Amino acid sequence: MTDSLLPTPSSKSTLIDDTIITQMRTLIGAIKKHNYAYYVLDNPILEDSEYDQLRLSLVELEEQYPDLVQPDSPINQVGDTPLSAFNQVTHDVPMLSLGNVFDYDDLHNFMRRVNDRLSDAQQNPEYEIELKLDGLAVSLKYEYGQFVQAVTRGDGRVGEDITQNTKTIRNLPLWLSDAKDIELLEVRGEVLMPKAGFERLNRLAEENEDKTFANPRNAAAGSLRQLDPAVAASRPLAFYAYSVNQGLPDIIETQSAALAWLKDIGFTVSAVEVVSNPRAAQVYYESVIETRDDLPFEIDGTVIKVNSLALQQQLGYLSREPRWATAYKFPAETVITRLNNIEWQVGRTGQLTPVGKLEPVKVGGVTVSNVTLHNFGEIQRLDVRAGDMVSVHRAGDVIPKVTRVWHEQRPDNSEPVTLPSNCPVCDSPVILPEGEALARCTGGLFCPAQQQEALIHFVSRRAMDIDGLGERWLISFFEHGLVKTVADIYQLHNHQDDLITYEKLGEKSVNNIISAIEDSKHTTLARFIYALGIRGVGETTAQNLAQQFGELDSLMAADIDTLLQTPDVGAITAELIYEFFRAPHNIEVIDELIKAGVHWDAVEQTVAEGLPLDGQTWVITGALDSMARDEAKAKLQALGAKVVGSVSAKTTALLAGEKAGSKLTKAEKLGVKVVGEDEFLALVGD
Ligand code: IVH
Repeated sequence: MTDSLLPTPSSKSTLIDDTIITQMRTLIGAIKKHNYAYYVLDNPILEDSEYDQLRLSLVELEEQYPDLVQPDSPINQVGDTPLSAFNQVTHDVPMLSLGNVFDYDDLHNFMRRVNDRLSDAQQNPEYEIELKLDGLAVSLKYEYGQFVQAVTRGDGRVGEDITQNTKTIRNLPLWLSDAKDIELLEVRGEVLMPKAGFERLNRLAEENEDKTFANPRNAAAGSLRQLDPAVAASRPLAFYAYSVNQGLPDIIETQSAALAWLKDIGFTVSAVEVVSNPRAAQVYYESVIETRDDLPFEIDGTVIKVNSLALQQQLGYLSREPRWATAYKFPAETVITRLNNIEWQVGRTGQLTPVGKLEPVKVGGVTVSNVTLHNFGEIQRLDVRAGDMVSVHRAGDVIPKVTRVWHEQRPDNSEPVTLPSNCPVCDSPVILPEGEALARCTGGLFCPAQQQEALIHFVSRRAMDIDGLGERWLISFFEHGLVKTVADIYQLHNHQDDLITYEKLGEKSVNNIISAIEDSKHTTLARFIYALGIRGVGETTAQNLAQQFGELDSLMAADIDTLLQTPDVGAITAELIYEFFRAPHNIEVIDELIKAGVHWDAVEQTVAEGLPLDGQTWVITGALDSMARDEAKAKLQALGAKVVGSVSAKTTALLAGEKAGSKLTKAEKLGVKVVGEDEFLALVGD
């Protein structure tokens, strides 16, 4: 039942009255909760577009079931009951809201509706376009040029008297010499906080460990509602005028002229464009989208107004909004849709990424049907399941993201998401090492999703060093199906004719490739281990493993505790190595490599006994001047020391270079000896 509370393509017409009423009540509850949070607490709980969607769902229900409209429906109400801390003031002229259009068709329809109410001679009037400033509406009164009162919009009929706080806004004129003869001038506009001031304010709040504001609009609202005008005065607010509601000189006949006049007499107004057809309005709207990020303040669209004030009067008002103006809002950046399913994708390096399959939805101007859920931890953090309604956010070029899960809408039969135990591509076991966010497929050498990456790594200079087999050719052979796993490289000599056909390679080039492959068969155990591309096993770890185990078989058979004895191998890497050698397909590929003739000289295991640093455990941190950390590590190991990654009570010494951080602090705390670079160089004899 709760399923269709939010806009979904479900059929509402078959539902019985009770269900409709329940849906309406739930929507009303959510809208009211948000209205209070937004208008009274200045602390919204929903994105504007989410709020719009909830309202739209309610409007649709009310249109479809007019008999069931609830008496307290918030649809025709503006704002919320004002806070009682300020005096309440009834507006002379109600402060209304604006209707919205979201695309060119909507805009066209708006202009058509205007035409429908105009005579033949008045058709296709001129329109004036302004920026839709994202602050809060305020009405100002001036008597004979003297500022006397500022009132918030409140519920549209009654607002709050914020005169004292408004006086502190620096660009707001307190005296208008050009309006000194006007008995009562009422100017309306938007109080906002420019982006730079907002960032400064939040930075300061963070430093003082105070509450930060969610966005400039809330910061502006919160500042105006300060009971202490001194605090309000310290806030970087600005006032932008957008209409004259009483006292406009008669000779002014258009909205654009009214704004020009406001500017002349001392107000700040934002950009204005006058157009004569919907196309031009669209072009201007699109140009504003392009430049909105460069503006010093936030806007959420444009406002399109019939320019002639006489026509405005003729067109009049609907209950909540003028017929002569509409907001052309920017595409919603957060929308609500259903997450139909969660699929797991295997990346080139074996990580499993959950991808949310969405009911396609337009967000930030493009249709989105997939959204990354990053990793299993994120799924747990969001507590998201297939079938949930979710809010999806996409701004600019940033990839879409699930920002909220509507748990209250969860279908009764939904199941928690589990991590697949086997790779969806190659069926090898999947592991999620303790403390890691990313689950991985262990079939590194075999998994088709990872093969290309595995091949490129395998032939690279520091691995098997098959110099003659460039990456481009390798990928082409892969794409032609000549090589799938790294073991297939050693079968390429059986496909020389194919190489010549596919790649138009000359015989000489083919011979070069084949002989480079042949040469690579003689390698070292360390290189071979590195070439396997086990996650977490870089060159140094591969060398350490070769030293520690001496033979491939014993490395392959090692349990996690034994692996942990290896310098540089921590819990996560140990698990990754262990599981790599447990994936049956990896073993097949290794067997094929050995069968094809890959071999290495016996490893000379350095006997640490008798070496000066035998039995010592070192940690290296910070940047060294004279060499890379790996080099320093090799030197210490050559002297018999174990070099590990983290400081503990068992650490013999910490080699600390420049900008040493937490490891140095820890060593000092544990009383571990700290060795500087000079002392180290003396020790290793450099
Ligand atoms: S004109 C009869 N012009 O948008 C209403 N409003 O969604 C006339 N707003 O309450 C409003 N920039 O707070 C107008 N250039 C602009 C505006 C603007 C922002 C706000 C205003 C209004 C809300 C309606």
